Amino acid sequence: MGMRVRSGMLKAGGLVLFVAGWAVGAGAQGAQAGAAAGAASGTATPHHAAAVRPTAAATRPVTAATPPMGWNSWNYFAGKVTDKDIRDTADLLVETGMRDAGYVYVNIDDTWEGGRDANGKIQSNEKFPDMKALADYVHSKGLKLGIYSSPGAKTCARFEGSLGHEEQDAATYAEWGIDYLKYDLCSYSGVMRAQFPNDPAAQNKMMREAYEKMHQAIGKTGRPMVYSLCQYGWDSVWEWGPQVGANLWRTTGDISANFDRMSLIGRSQAGLAKYAGPGHWNDPDMLEVGNGRLTLDENRTHMTLWAMLAAPLIAGNNLTEMKPEIAAILMNKEAIAIDQDALGKQGDRVLADGPLEIWAKPLKGGAGHKSAAVAIFNFGETASEMRKDSLHLKEMGFAGAVTARDVWAGKDLGRIGDDYKFTVPRHGVVLLVVR
Ligand code: GLA
Repeated sequence: MGMRVRSGMLKAGGLVLFVAGWAVGAGAQGAQAGAAAGAASGTATPHHAAAVRPTAAATRPVTAATPPMGWNSWNYFAGKVTDKDIRDTADLLVETGMRDAGYVYVNIDDTWEGGRDANGKIQSNEKFPDMKALADYVHSKGLKLGIYSSPGAKTCARFEGSLGHEEQDAATYAEWGIDYLKYDLCSYSGVMRAQFPNDPAAQNKMMREAYEKMHQAIGKTGRPMVYSLCQYGWDSVWEWGPQVGANLWRTTGDISANFDRMSLIGRSQAGLAKYAGPGHWNDPDMLEVGNGRLTLDENRTHMTLWAMLAAPLIAGNNLTEMKPEIAAILMNKEAIAIDQDALGKQGDRVLADGPLEIWAKPLKGGAGHKSAAVAIFNFGETASEMRKDSLHLKEMGFAGAVTARDVWAGKDLGRIGDDYKFTVPRHGVVLLVVR
């Protein structure tokens, strides 16, 4: 059932002291984000966008202008997901307030696929009797529906993939009313290796072409769909994802609902900030908030890290049994606002001092003032005072004291200086918005 852990694919997060040079880097990053956003909306690079969105490209809003938010079936239901689970989830996204907090995509992951009919048209299996009716239901709730496939003949859970049926499948998704496609490499990596053994460059070319093929197929349908690449961060996908039309791309192997795995993935995103921006995001995988045995501090750390990373916020818990304290984490408006900030800049690590790390994310701010989210993480096994560490506000571009708000405490702290000390619980975080 899926390929759970792919060891050796992770980019190890170098836990050395590293000070982000925002003051000098910001201009260049802004320019790149602008260019890439142009590409995503079909205004800049002819090689992939022009054929896909031929009309009104300049006026059409950017798909995924902020990191996509929603829910996906895999992390909790995995291979057991049914039509009823999706309907229940849609109902609960509305009832709990999650939809209004921004979680609008309801994404069916692997194991919905049946075979193909005599004309090669993809069928859903017995767990999903009528995909079009399900899409209508989800849409009637003011939500959007996502689906999953693979460029290979088989998906990761060995269900029917799209190989050789790309245009037909995209057309079927459009006919059903699908708004989001997660396209998971899975068995296609075997096709690449068989075709070009021992030639990673040629394999990479095949992979890009496979992703571009589905991008073109989606474009031909005329229906906007968020396009989510899943190939576990291989071959520095962040460098070429936008060129094959990706709105987001997984940067790592699969997450699981434990603190070590979640924090390893989150911390390994250091250095990738420059690749993210409106329309094209790094995806460190879907949320495990509320799953497994994550403690409340660990759940807050998870939500905070993903918000600091401008990561897609795709919840993965069972909403029929969501506890109020988990709902409060997933729906913390200020944490969501950090993730969804209109500047679209991913945060990065400013300091690592053993288990203590400070990350910062530039925010849009208001007229004439600078603003940032600052997270002080404690990945260690005991509560930690900051001792000799300062907040490193200067590296974030602040000249002196700042006005601070503690997000998880829901408390204004007034003016604080660089030497202000926090005590951070084991596996916990203090999240500030400063200006
Ligand atoms: C892979 C992906 C997961 C999930 C499964 C489904 O492992 O990385 O996110 O989609 O496949 O089989």
